[in-house]
Amino acid sequence: MRHKVGIIGVGSVGASVAISTLHSGAADELWLHDLDGARAEGEAMDLAHGAWFYPACKVRTASVEEMRNAQVVVVAAGRGGRPDETRLDLLRDNARVARDIGRTLAGFAGTVVVVSNPVDVLVRVLTEASGLPPQRVLGTGTLLDTSRLRQMLGHRLHLSSNSVHAQVLGEHGDSSVLLWSGAEVGGVPLRSWPGWRRGQEDALAQQVRKAAYEVIQRKGFTNHAIGLVTARLLRCLLRGEQQVLTVSRVQQGALGLRDVALSLPTVVGRQGGLHVAEPVMDDAERAALEHSAQVLRAAHASIAAGG
Ligand SMILES: NC(=O)c1ccc[n+]([C@@H]2O[C@H](COP(=O)([O-])OP(=O)(O)OC[C@H]3O[C@@H](n4cnc5c(N)ncnc54)[C@H](O)[C@@H]3O)[C@@H](O)[C@H]2O)c1
Repeated sequence: MRHKVGIIGVGSVGASVAISTLHSGAADELWLHDLDGARAEGEAMDLAHGAWFYPACKVRTASVEEMRNAQVVVVAAGRGGRPDETRLDLLRDNARVARDIGRTLAGFAGTVVVVSNPVDVLVRVLTEASGLPPQRVLGTGTLLDTSRLRQMLGHRLHLSSNSVHAQVLGEHGDSSVLLWSGAEVGGVPLRSWPGWRRGQEDALAQQVRKAAYEVIQRKGFTNHAIGLVTARLLRCLLRGEQQVLTVSRVQQGALGLRDVALSLPTVVGRQGGLHVAEPVMDDAERAALEHSAQVLRAAHASIAAGG
């Protein structure tokens, strides 16, 4: 089967998802769409001109309706926050975009990957608008936060981030939950690792949560890490890799959570994110996850009330 991937919204993030996907070799066809048609055309041309340097893949523009023929559609449409507005303003605008795209994708047979922020709320909005089953509307969620945490831990411990097993769950945002109790290196709990001090944990958690702000302060937006994260997720979906990734989806009872989209470790394969794992947590982590779920439910309720 030819693997077809659509990307809706090819701004900084969509373009980075596109180039990472091309390098990964996971797609045979890459279809781009943007409200700004010229932008999508320009990106498609620019990416196609480099075809010599990535595994064979045909790049072109497509309508959202055409994307119903893809196996995976990435939603990176919408915008980032502006300094002069509330989070709710951004939420309302991007929720409108996600709702429209969701309605157009009703009956879609593939998986939707939501990247636009606030990603968890938009996953729920798009799941509801499309009527697709929760396992087929995934958000990149805390996969990016998990990648940041592993990079920062690897740097501190002088180890490859591949050898550090730690994860971030819950909201992709201020209420994210770092699972320190389950973090380990080579089978050794992180908290027993020589030189590790529990006193470092809060500061490191804040560093992970503020990582995007630090980048945005310097370059105005983030795009490369999220591009790589999304390409990995696409590869798992297209090849049925069954990797356990911290992605966001509407939860249906894992750890007692319902009526909320947030990230938990999830097996990602051809059917989307079907099986959600229930990691062992200490009481403080469990309470923090419940708090994160409440924050997200309240955010969703605020747009439902605002229309
Ligand atoms: N989930 C994450 O970890 C993560 C990381 C970085 C950025 N983001 C989010 O990704 C989104 C995109 O960020 P960006 O930096 O690429 O923004 P951008 O402004 O550079 O690009 C957004 C693009 O979306 C297009 N667009 C808007 N409405 C559309 C619609 N209805 N249909 C099709 N295209 C539409 C715009 O024309 C624009 O080209 C933002 O919401 C941002 O906050 C998420």
